[in-house]
Amino acid sequence: MAVVTLCVVYILFLTPVGSCDGNLRFASYYGDHMVLQKSPERAVLWGYGSEGAQVTVSLSGPIKQKTSPVTVTKGVWRVTLDPVEAGGPYNVTAAIQSSTATLTDVLFGDIWLCGGQSNMYFKTSQIFNASEELALAAKYPHVRTFMVALNLSETELTDLIQVELPWTVPTARNLSEFSAVCWLFGRYMYEVLKYPIGLVESCWGGTPVEAWSSSRALQQCGLEQTRDSPKDRNSVLWNAMIHPLLNMTIKGAIWYQGEANADYHQDKYKCSFPAMIDDWRMAFHQGSGRQTAIDFPFGFVQLSTYKKGPTDDGFPNIRWHQTADFGFVPNPWMQRTFMAVAMDLPDETSPYGTIHPRDKQDVAYRLTLGARAVAYNEKDVPFLGPFPNQIQSSRMYVNITYNQSVSVTPSKDIFEICCSGIQAPCGPKSLWVPAPITKWGPTIVQLSAILCPPTDEVAGLRYAWRDWPCDFKACPIYSASGILPAPPFIFNRYPQKGEVRKSH
Ligand SMILES: *[C@@H]1O[C@H](CO)[C@@H](O)[C@H](O)[C@H]1NC(C)=O
Ligand SMILES: *[C@@H]1O[C@H](CO)[C@@H](O)[C@H](O)[C@H]1NC(C)=O
Ligand SMILES: *[C@@H]1O[C@H](CO)[C@@H](O)[C@H](O)[C@H]1NC(C)=O
Ligand SMILES: *[C@@H]1O[C@H](CO)[C@@H](O)[C@H](O)[C@H]1NC(C)=O
Ligand SMILES: *[C@@H]1O[C@H](CO)[C@@H](O)[C@H](O)[C@H]1NC(C)=O
Ligand SMILES: *[C@@H]1O[C@H](CO)[C@@H](O)[C@H](O)[C@H]1NC(C)=O
Ligand SMILES: *[C@@H]1O[C@H](CO)[C@@H](O)[C@H](O)[C@H]1NC(C)=O
Repeated sequence: MAVVTLCVVYILFLTPVGSCDGNLRFASYYGDHMVLQKSPERAVLWGYGSEGAQVTVSLSGPIKQKTSPVTVTKGVWRVTLDPVEAGGPYNVTAAIQSSTATLTDVLFGDIWLCGGQSNMYFKTSQIFNASEELALAAKYPHVRTFMVALNLSETELTDLIQVELPWTVPTARNLSEFSAVCWLFGRYMYEVLKYPIGLVESCWGGTPVEAWSSSRALQQCGLEQTRDSPKDRNSVLWNAMIHPLLNMTIKGAIWYQGEANADYHQDKYKCSFPAMIDDWRMAFHQGSGRQTAIDFPFGFVQLSTYKKGPTDDGFPNIRWHQTADFGFVPNPWMQRTFMAVAMDLPDETSPYGTIHPRDKQDVAYRLTLGARAVAYNEKDVPFLGPFPNQIQSSRMYVNITYNQSVSVTPSKDIFEICCSGIQAPCGPKSLWVPAPITKWGPTIVQLSAILCPPTDEVAGLRYAWRDWPCDFKACPIYSASGILPAPPFIFNRYPQKGEVRKSH
């Protein structure tokens, strides 16, 4: 917690109470051991004080800095620092005459916000190799963590109701409750960037995207309130757990959510998810006085697995909608985004339920590939799995040409074709039959269409269109390196009206 230096006693006696400001403090999410956003962005700091008081903020550490005084207005002061290069440690002191509040051991680096539902909430102590991961924590004193408490609100709040875990230098104990995906992402990025990383966890199990979206974003998709369990209500988590953070400068966000929308406004997710991303971007940009980029990088995990065997199309549909129905990101509707495919990381014996796979290392690693390419503009970091460039079909065969070399393991049923006697879009009720892989070359996969009735033609094709399509790391199509799984896709030869933009 911030140290508040009390006024020296004689001032208490000789001056009116108002000028000796015991109210001076930082907002809830500024604390000792924190990370502030490094240059070229400028960190924003704000807090509370007595009305009219003049606050200056100074930095002491590798460089010194002192802001011009700002006046406390409506109980709040706010400053924007000059850009500070990565490094530290610094003390950050807010001062009003004889009273000060100081944050110690502050580093400058990149701040990543980690949001979503239970797979983001999933704790480092719950993953595979948890004890090894926790034992490593102390080796990363420059990766700092902070966790927002689970709270909801019917109105937009300016500060957090409660902090779950204050900013901390990682130790095995502190980290055990912290998000595994968030931590591993930060730790892997630190290995690449070699400068401080601040991780802000703000997520809640079982929550739909609507709860994390402002009313502006929901309106864009025509989403009305239909569910009434308290934490699922429209905007309640946006209000309490995201809106208060808007005035902090951040580098980007990662997100693991969607399970709760497999049976809730599922068909709207292709609108609601991109709308939330753009709305967060606009709001963080505005809240930070344009320091957080208007198009800050946003990474997410495509849904992993839940139920083996025949199921409804909830998970495949959400996976598809997570890409705004393009099948891959970034795309024209979702720029500066990156995705970790996770459908090949099932965990049949997870003690936390199959919906919570324990391998978060691969999920986080795949996210870092996307972050390196999209957020840090590293050239030559492959982060996209193979995706079809061209699909040609005849009565006998379907030929898929991928946009990169593929590594193929034959499968009889991972591809399915829709057989139709009429030129109409295929839907879930259409006749879908398996299309076995018969041949493959460096970038080509040939399927047999023989299971279609002879009077029908191939009117659609889909890949991995199942909740649980493969065994662990054993999907049929990967990048040639074997690292990046091909994401699932579905194509219609005769698209629905309004679907045309999807054809490539
Ligand atoms: C920060 O403050 C602490 C406690 O007052 C002090 O020990 C430390 O030397 C200061 N560090 C810097 C960089 O000013
Ligand atoms: C906020 O969350 C904490 C637990 O994390 C809880 O104790 C508290 O009651 C919540 N407050 C509100 C207003 O919901
Ligand atoms: C982090 O762990 C250390 C040592 O276990 C402990 O002293 C410290 O209070 C912890 N910090 C938090 C925020 O839990
Ligand atoms: C945070 O930013 C918003 C603008 O998005 C502004 O209305 C609000 O007053 C700011 N809060 C503080 C404490 O600066
Ligand atoms: C757990 O550790 C073992 C041994 O180092 C390693 O082979 C395995 O890949 C690790 N699992 C995960 C999910 O990282
Ligand atoms: C698919 O490729 C094979 C060669 O592997 C070719 O003979 C066949 O004509 C192709 N079919 C279509 C529909 O393009
Ligand atoms: C694969 O396809 C996607 C989407 O069309 C494209 O953005 C990406 O650059 C392609 N990757 C490769 C390796 O060609």
